[in-house]
Amino acid sequence: MTGAQERAWRELWPTLGIENGDEPLDLAAVFGRQAPVVLEIGFGNGESLVTLAAAHADRNFLGLEVHPPGVGHLLLRCEAGKLGNVRVICDDAVQVLQRRVPDASLDEVLLYFPDPWPKKRHHKRRIVQPAFVELVARKLKTGGVLRMATDWQPYAEHMLAAARGSTALRNESATGDYVDRPDSRPITHFERRGQRLGHGVWDLAFRRPV
Ligand SMILES: C[S@@+](CC[C@H](N)C(=O)[O-])C[C@H]1O[C@@H](n2cnc3c(N)ncnc32)[C@H](O)[C@@H]1O
Repeated sequence: MTGAQERAWRELWPTLGIENGDEPLDLAAVFGRQAPVVLEIGFGNGESLVTLAAAHADRNFLGLEVHPPGVGHLLLRCEAGKLGNVRVICDDAVQVLQRRVPDASLDEVLLYFPDPWPKKRHHKRRIVQPAFVELVARKLKTGGVLRMATDWQPYAEHMLAAARGSTALRNESATGDYVDRPDSRPITHFERRGQRLGHGVWDLAFRRPV
C-alpha cells in the first residue's frame, strides 16, 4: 500500500468502512438515510463506483472489494470528491451477500470485468456461477437489475449461460444475449487494459421482474 492509502485506511475507513462480521446490515442505518442501493462487486480501484456515486447523489453505493490497496484508493477518491453516499466492505463478496445483505434490498448489482480465470482448470474460481446468479437475484428488489461486463468472450458466454439459467431474472437484451454498452457505465482500468490488448467488451443486464 502507498503511504496515502495507509492514511486513507487510518483516517477515512472509520467513517466509510464497514467492519467485517456476520450480522445482517441495516442499509438505511449504514448510509444514514433511505435511498436506492447500488452494490458494486470487485470495484478494483473504485473508478466506476466513484464516478457513479458523484453522478447519482440520490443513490447509496456499497462497494465490495477484497484487495486492501484498492479500498484505500477508493477511500481517497471519496475524500477528494467529498462523497457521502459511498460505503465499503473489504471482504469476499459472496460471503457478504450470503450473510450480510438482506434479501430484496438492492436496486442494482454491478460486476464489471471480474477476473476471467481463462484456464479451464480454474473456471470453478469464476465468481459468476449459477448459484451466484441465484444469490444475486434473491438480493435484488423486484425491478432491480444485475449488470455485468467482461472483455473475455468465453467468460461472457459463461455469464450469459449462468444468467439465462435463472428463472428469477429476465434478460434485458433485445437480441436475447448481450446489451449495448450502457452510456452510464464508466470506463475502468481493466476495460482500458482490455482495449489495449485488442479485446472486445460484452455487457449483460438481467432484471428481476416486477
Ligand atoms: C479484474 S479486477 C476488475 C476491477 C474493476 N472492476 C475494473 O473494472 O477495473 C477484479 C477485481 O475483483 C476483486 N475480487 C475478486 N474476487 C472478489 C470477491 N470474491 N469479492 C470481492 N472482490 C473480489 C479483485 O480484487 C479485483 O480488484
